[in-house]
Amino acid sequence: MANKTIAVIGTGYVGLVAGACLAFKGHKVTCFDINEKRIKDLSQGIIPFYEPGLEEKVKTSNLNFSLVNEDLLDGFEAIFISVGTPDDGSGKTDLSQVKSALDFVIKKSEKKKIIIIRSTVPAGTCTKLQEYIASKTEIQHVVCSNPEFTKEGDAINDFEKPERVVVGVPDISDSSLIDFFTSIYEDFIHKDNILFMSTESSELTKYASNAFLATKISFINDIARLCDKLNANIEEVSLGMGKDSRIGSSFLNSGLGYGGSCFPKDTLSLQNQANVVNESLYVLDGTIISNRIQIDYFFQKILNYFESKKLKKIITILGLSFKPETDDTRESRGLILYQLLLDRGFQVKCYDKMHLNLPENLSSLNYSKNMENALSGSNAVVITVEDNEFKKLDSSFLKKLGIKVVFDGRNILNGDHINKEIDYISIGKG
Ligand code: UGA
Repeated sequence: MANKTIAVIGTGYVGLVAGACLAFKGHKVTCFDINEKRIKDLSQGIIPFYEPGLEEKVKTSNLNFSLVNEDLLDGFEAIFISVGTPDDGSGKTDLSQVKSALDFVIKKSEKKKIIIIRSTVPAGTCTKLQEYIASKTEIQHVVCSNPEFTKEGDAINDFEKPERVVVGVPDISDSSLIDFFTSIYEDFIHKDNILFMSTESSELTKYASNAFLATKISFINDIARLCDKLNANIEEVSLGMGKDSRIGSSFLNSGLGYGGSCFPKDTLSLQNQANVVNESLYVLDGTIISNRIQIDYFFQKILNYFESKKLKKIITILGLSFKPETDDTRESRGLILYQLLLDRGFQVKCYDKMHLNLPENLSSLNYSKNMENALSGSNAVVITVEDNEFKKLDSSFLKKLGIKVVFDGRNILNGDHINKEIDYISIGKG
């Protein structure tokens, strides 16, 4: 039943999508953030990043925005914490933003709250936060885990039509908690698919899911490199594998490897969590190594081509975001290639149709929003994301602009077609 009063702390992809979708269903939701500009923008309906369908949801009258520290939280039954949990630089998860959000909740609450950790946090975090609360206040807030499984670019759909909802609770026999989560998620999913478990299991389910998907990608990339050596075609192999429903065809597209704000950070964090308890995750170790070398492998193909053809090193990168339909460039393969090419003396031109959120160290990177401008004068093209726009690239159009070779980092073009007019180099097609 849509009658809950909910606060969401953190208005990034995760928090804003959850807040907006819950409010759209009729719950009274307030989203909090420490970023004053962001709260001001959101109050005027301005979304700080591109996510299809989100703007419409954010306009619902049930959704309000507030700066952290302004309001008391006692009007809310539950509080989602969905702040960033970045890598601290060593692979370990930095929980400082979660802790600040929790301190805010403790300070501003005079009544018991259900505190829901939606950020991706290492197994055991909710239990530790519960102990931390007990050391700070007499109020017996309950800390639960409810990881998100939403993909950027399709987040609304993933939230509204989830395949499962995972909820970790400190006490599985606490029917008030089970009722609370069932009442908010029943609008989106049959209650049999709301999976209640311990907070540790819930936290680990999130990491294990992302690590498994990352492993599928690294596995197919390993096989793609082997295809190159054995004269096989990775697309045929992937199709042949994926038809087995036990394997499944999704996440078997070979390319430049996985990027984004989740897989690279979460795989490292899981590896770190295992190290701390002296356990080895042999498969995951390989997944991470494979993802690292995949981009070098492709880069080497580019270098070899330019060397053998004695071409002037001018190249255009198509796509700087980490995947299509997003302005997010975190761990983007395009940006990594950009740096590698620059370091080897290439003149690098870039195209992306989005208004990108670039990292600070590359904030001055000049990219064109006009593909033709970015291509003219270049000798080569590198495709880094599986954007529909790039799937339509035509070899005569490229040839007219002087392009001599396409490096297809996502295997999205038909090489036979391109090869008639210009060279075509991809991954795993012999
Ligand atoms: C991922 C998961 O898919 C979500 O379920 C999860 O909730 C989210 O992380 C998160 O933890 O928040 P996301 O990072 O948005 O979502 O992106 P994906 O669509 O999963 O793609 C990740 C990367 O894998 C991209 O760089 C993509 O190009 C690459 N990829 C994906 C491949 O190289 N091959 C494939 O077959 C599929």
